[in-house]
Amino acid sequence: MVKICCIGAGYVGGPTMAVIALKCPSIEVVVVDISASRIAAWNSDQLPIYEPGLDDVVKQCRGKNLFFSTNVEVHVAEADIIFVSVNTPTKTRGLGAGKAADLTYWESAARMIADVSRSDKIVVEKSTVPVKTAEAIEKILTHNSKGVNYQILSNPEFLAEGTAIQDLFTPDRVLIGGRETPEGSRAVQTLKDVYAHWVPEDRILTTNLWSAELSKLAANAFLAQRISSVNAISALCEATGANVSEVAFAVGKDSRIGPKFLNASVGFGGSCFQKDILNLVYICECNGLPEVANYWRQVIKINDYQKSRFVNRVVSSMFNTVSGKKIAVLGFAFKKDTGDTRETPAIDVCKGLLGDKASISIYDPQVTEEQIRRDLAMNKFDWDHPAHLQPTSPAAVKQVSVTWDAYAAAKGAHGVCILTEWDEFRELDYQRIYDNMQKPAFVFDGRNVVDAEKLRAIGFIVYSIGKPL
Ligand code: NAD
Ligand code: UGA
Repeated sequence: MVKICCIGAGYVGGPTMAVIALKCPSIEVVVVDISASRIAAWNSDQLPIYEPGLDDVVKQCRGKNLFFSTNVEVHVAEADIIFVSVNTPTKTRGLGAGKAADLTYWESAARMIADVSRSDKIVVEKSTVPVKTAEAIEKILTHNSKGVNYQILSNPEFLAEGTAIQDLFTPDRVLIGGRETPEGSRAVQTLKDVYAHWVPEDRILTTNLWSAELSKLAANAFLAQRISSVNAISALCEATGANVSEVAFAVGKDSRIGPKFLNASVGFGGSCFQKDILNLVYICECNGLPEVANYWRQVIKINDYQKSRFVNRVVSSMFNTVSGKKIAVLGFAFKKDTGDTRETPAIDVCKGLLGDKASISIYDPQVTEEQIRRDLAMNKFDWDHPAHLQPTSPAAVKQVSVTWDAYAAAKGAHGVCILTEWDEFRELDYQRIYDNMQKPAFVFDGRNVVDAEKLRAIGFIVYSIGKPL
């Protein structure tokens, strides 16, 4: 029986390994983590992450061929294939701070692998890492090897949160990069055999190590670039009377462009787009390519512009001040169908409104009050350093309240900001909301989810992204 161990039981490690276990009953999969609370949650009925379909997959294989453990060293020592899926946040201090990837967690995982291994291992980079990380990992492993042979593979993950299980069941592609040596090819084949249990062979791409590492950063940069492109156009739509939905539809009809990922929004969030583009920018700078670095940096600048443009719109529409006014924030997660708040645009928008002394009342169906308060108290880039690895600073934000209902959030409010596209926000009783708000009652739709005309008929003043007023 092939044994797999995955280091890191997070948004990637957990779902990815659960699906491998489900699709490969002959493989034993153990997911390990240094966070005892996270592992306890994976072993309970309340999984640590909300992801549609995940509960079902975990229930089917947990205790059979899928295990979650804090016994990191034992399971690493026993495994044939070790996936490393630890977090790779942006560095907060030192060389490359604010841009470069912080590989501390990765390096400590690699050193631990070298310490405890007594048999040959295939070590798989699942985390998103800078190009050439495999070379660094190889050095750590081989210089500390006790006669053990290591093969390093790059197998970046392309799942998106909220659709992780579907993405893992039917991936557009699985990418495996390895050394172009006989041993490297054998390792690639071993990993390919795992995925071949359910992924059609023509969707399993094999490349050299550096192409695989770079493809992951490039894919995220291309995806984020589409959003910044449509968001940039949304500003021009607002200035000219064009409608960004109509423009995006017309543009996306060109089969060379395609319709996906062209939804204008308050800005993209999530743990990876910004982090990975900053990482790409840093790699370009280190390789003497400032023009290329500046090109990609612009994708982030437009995203920041879009978020501050939204805050400015709220404040300027409400007679240039929100001081002392209650504003309801509907949605705090960075997208629907997840409870993840890492780099959510809601943090910047709420901080912007708080900066103008608004009092805000937040509702999100999946995000806890504790998480919201921690996010609003955190400094930039702290979000991807897990809470158990950093000093806690959940200083109470006094002007913030958190409710478990959209109606309670909007009661007595001057304005409503929709910041996540949860389906339930399309179905709300907006007449009831209007009746309980201060007048004039404003709706600022940062996700273009409401029917603006219907709301205007009720009496709301509605601002949508990239649409005529
Ligand atoms: P995460 O923070 O949810 O999980 C990482 C886990 O690793 C944490 O639970 C942490 O406790 C654990 N960890 C850290 N150091 C450890 C060590 N030395 N030993 C054992 N456990 C350790 O992160 P994530 O969202 O799962 O992302 C992991 C990687 O995958 C990142 O590089 C990210 O860029 C990449 N990625 C993420 C997504 C996504 O949707 N979240 C998608 C594709 C790729
Ligand atoms: C993204 C990529 O889609 C995944 O392929 C990748 O594996 C992952 O990053 C990663 O490396 O972490 P994720 O961040 O989970 O996945 O979610 P997305 O669906 O990409 O959404 C990211 C952000 O962009 C969200 O805030 C979303 O609301 C926003 N978005 C997305 C838009 O504003 N407009 C769109 O048209 C699409």
